[in-house]
Amino acid sequence: MQQRFLIVAGKGGVGKTTVSAALAESLAAKGKRVLVAMCNAKERISTMLGSDLVGEDVVRVGKNMWAVNMNPERALEEYGMLILKSKALYAILFDNKYVRTFFRAVPGMQEWAMLGKAWFHTTETRDDGSLMYDVVILDAPATGHGLDMLRVPKVIVDVVPTGLLRRDAERAITMFQDPKTCAAILVTLPEEMPTTETIELASALTKELHIPIGAVVVNGVLPPLFSREERAALEKCEIDEKKPGDAAIVAGQDRAARERVQAESLSRLSRELPVKPIFFPLLFEDAATPTAIHELAKRI
Ligand SMILES: Nc1ncnc2c1ncn2[C@@H]1O[C@H](COP(=O)(O)OP(=O)(O)OP(=O)(O)O)[C@@H](O)[C@H]1O
Ligand SMILES: [Mg+2]
Repeated sequence: MQQRFLIVAGKGGVGKTTVSAALAESLAAKGKRVLVAMCNAKERISTMLGSDLVGEDVVRVGKNMWAVNMNPERALEEYGMLILKSKALYAILFDNKYVRTFFRAVPGMQEWAMLGKAWFHTTETRDDGSLMYDVVILDAPATGHGLDMLRVPKVIVDVVPTGLLRRDAERAITMFQDPKTCAAILVTLPEEMPTTETIELASALTKELHIPIGAVVVNGVLPPLFSREERAALEKCEIDEKKPGDAAIVAGQDRAARERVQAESLSRLSRELPVKPIFFPLLFEDAATPTAIHELAKRI
């Protein structure tokens, strides 16, 4: 993966942060300096990576790895300061209740504060002029909110007059739309609803926002126990509630049904998405541990 900005997107709870952590680890192992930027999330990544807690300031979470849990208010403040280039001027403006209320009320401003901050980190350099981070991974908000966030730069370009804000939004769009610099990593589960939602998300990203899809991770994949014929045979079995042995057949039928849904979901995803999916197995131990993340990172 050569891109410098990776957007990890998908439905709530499907494993976006798990995939972000595994992705960060796999890129860091190749010697890249990686920053994971989370959007005001419930902090879970420190457990996954075995690091100190990740808050509003960028912290090192491992070799070549940093993370930050962006807070919109704080990010907006940082951005305001960057634009105004003066703490005194910022204080005059932003310590004013009315100005603060106004800024908070501008639609999309909170989203831009976080998305713009994540993008801004791709432009940061060190004293010797080299890049501060080779890759920024945006652990995006769940689908609908994530899309709303990614729509904001275009709104800024359309409505905001020429100036620093608009220039940054234009630069971010240029980066997000170029397959050499940006890729969306879609995360999904091998189930019907998440599959449908992922196909819709992919379509909104590519057709509306022109953001390239770099990879699709199907998380929580079960190792199939049955062939298609065995599934069909199991599903036909008549159950006699009174026969104790039939409980095993019911368990087999449940598993067969899950495997059928999984097989259908995987074939829909392969058919409808522009990239071949990567599979992450369903782990039966706790997945939010450094050992589990390390195992998952090998799949990338
Ligand atoms: N492959 C897996 N096997 C087992 N458990 C998993 C797997 N992937 C993720 N989990 C667990 O599922 C839960 C949700 O994962 P995660 O926090 O990565 O999802 P998310 O998409 O970031 O959620 P949110 O939308 O709330 O941010 C976590 O407890 C995680 O450890
Ligand atoms: Mg998450």
